[in-house]
Amino acid sequence: MALADDIARVLFTEVQIQDRIRTMAAQISRDYAATAPLLVSVLKGALYFMADLSRAITIPITVDFMAITSYGDETASTGAVRLIKDLDEKITERHVLLVEDIIDTGLTADYLLRTLRARDPASLNICTLLDKAARRIVDTLPIQYRGFEVPDEFVVGYGLDHRQLYRNLPFIGVLKPEVIAAAR
Ligand code: IMP
Repeated sequence: MALADDIARVLFTEVQIQDRIRTMAAQISRDYAATAPLLVSVLKGALYFMADLSRAITIPITVDFMAITSYGDETASTGAVRLIKDLDEKITERHVLLVEDIIDTGLTADYLLRTLRARDPASLNICTLLDKAARRIVDTLPIQYRGFEVPDEFVVGYGLDHRQLYRNLPFIGVLKPEVIAAAR
């Protein structure tokens, strides 16, 4: 059985995602033209977005990665976040753009921002591919770039997982309810 058979409906096709990323990358290239920003992304969800976004940016940048555990294997946020890999680079006086796959409650991004802000970057903003605004708890996040708004449904693909699967789908879609139910 193919992975895509578990998808109830596609929200964003591969073409739509790549188009949107090109537009976001053009904006970032303009806004950060003089600063050689550091793009920081969070493994593993933002892996594909970071790879495509960074390649579409036309100014000098550097990239770095953090890894956290957030949801465990469940589909609801606990708010508990643990840093399991820190950045390699120092960010003091750097212009930092946090590249996120999805902002849901905002608790994860809020934790990351507080961690990064304590290191005195020159600036710190967020670029997220997906925004599930309906579920936001922390509404003070500096989201400077946002790809798409998503409804309050559990989405997978293009880096987003359910129990570590579906990350490699090239599109973003909603899982069939029976797939989520079967995993419980
Ligand atoms: P937040 O802390 O509630 O904003 O959750 C952020 C993290 O939860 C994301 O980086 C994802 O790992 C995960 N997440 C939230 N919503 C979804 C979803 O619909 N599908 C897959 N992962 C999600």
